[in-house]
Amino acid sequence: MKKKLKILMLFYSPYQKPRGYDYKEEFSDPDNMYTEKDVLLTLKDLGHEVSLLGIYNDISPLFEEIKENKPDVIFNMMEVFNDQTHLEKNLAALLEVLDIPFTGASSGVLYLCNNKALHKKIFNYHRIKVPQFHDFARGSRVYVPAKIHLPAVIKPLCEEASRGISQASIVDTADAFIERVKFIHQNMGMDAIAEEYVDGRELYVTVMGYKPVIVFPPREMVFKNMPQEQPRIATYKAKWDDNYRKRWGIDSVPVKDLDQSVLENIYYICRRAYRVLDARSYLRFDLRLTQEGEVYIIEPNANPCIARIDEMAQAAHLSGVDYKELVQRVLEQAIILNQQARLKKKAKS
Ligand SMILES: Nc1ncnc2c1ncn2[C@@H]1O[C@H](COP(=O)(O)OP(=O)(O)O)[C@@H](O)[C@H]1O
Ligand SMILES: [Mg+2]
Repeated sequence: MKKKLKILMLFYSPYQKPRGYDYKEEFSDPDNMYTEKDVLLTLKDLGHEVSLLGIYNDISPLFEEIKENKPDVIFNMMEVFNDQTHLEKNLAALLEVLDIPFTGASSGVLYLCNNKALHKKIFNYHRIKVPQFHDFARGSRVYVPAKIHLPAVIKPLCEEASRGISQASIVDTADAFIERVKFIHQNMGMDAIAEEYVDGRELYVTVMGYKPVIVFPPREMVFKNMPQEQPRIATYKAKWDDNYRKRWGIDSVPVKDLDQSVLENIYYICRRAYRVLDARSYLRFDLRLTQEGEVYIIEPNANPCIARIDEMAQAAHLSGVDYKELVQRVLEQAIILNQQARLKKKAKS
């Protein structure tokens, strides 16, 4: 499938711009919309015809664009709508209703991945290891459940990119536990989840496709200069603050020292977890690997960052899949899934 496609690149824009706006200025800022820029240049390089549409809180330009330009496929990079991450799934659901092929996760997968308790309940059912956890809706009683042994990590229930996660999120007393849950309720205005802290290495594994499913080699977040006694977790600063990353020697690197049996176990778990979620496009799992070789899924990330420098592209590169090929595969997968869905519908009628 190498034909030239008409692609609509759909992404979040912090300000509503008119249709046809070229985003040249925004895309040239290396700290800002670099993912969109990477994808745009690559799609063009692949020979496709691309139009851009940034959306903030008004959906009508999307309808107009679809009606007037009829894209073959939508490259869906919408992670937020109207500043709300949980509406990411609603955007995908809208594209499903419109029956246009779109890249990335379905609305259902986005829903399951976004809620850190929901996917853990499903993984528990399938005996895929996750940390012990308890979710605290706002307004509910806050206490330390007997099943959770401290230290624990307290996080917003439905957030991403480590927003709300700092070293203070790790609590080792009941008072600190309760205080942090209340902090998330009151200061962030969100529901919270408490998870038992899993001590271990922080691994990232990207899984892609559907029959066949491909697992890319793991990568690891390392903390070279961080004192041993400090928990090594991917806080907001560890992910996004360059000075902090430099100071503590935080970096993401390929993993080269794992025994074959551990590696195979990781691949096996990630494949199963991917299937259990009914994922069919691409996902990145955040894992912790304990000293005893146990693998815990911390969370699945639907539509993980797809810039050249991000985990997914770096992991693909380890398998010999370059960025251009990766982007093309993402596109093709969208079309194949849409065709399969149409065939199924036809077979039924
Ligand atoms: N139960 C846990 N045990 C150990 N570390 C954790 C746990 N939960 C979260 N972390 C650390 O916090 C980071 C962010 O948590 P995560 O649930 O992935 O949230 P986000 O969606 O914001 O990335 C993880 O990558 C990991 O380093
Ligand atoms: Mg994460």
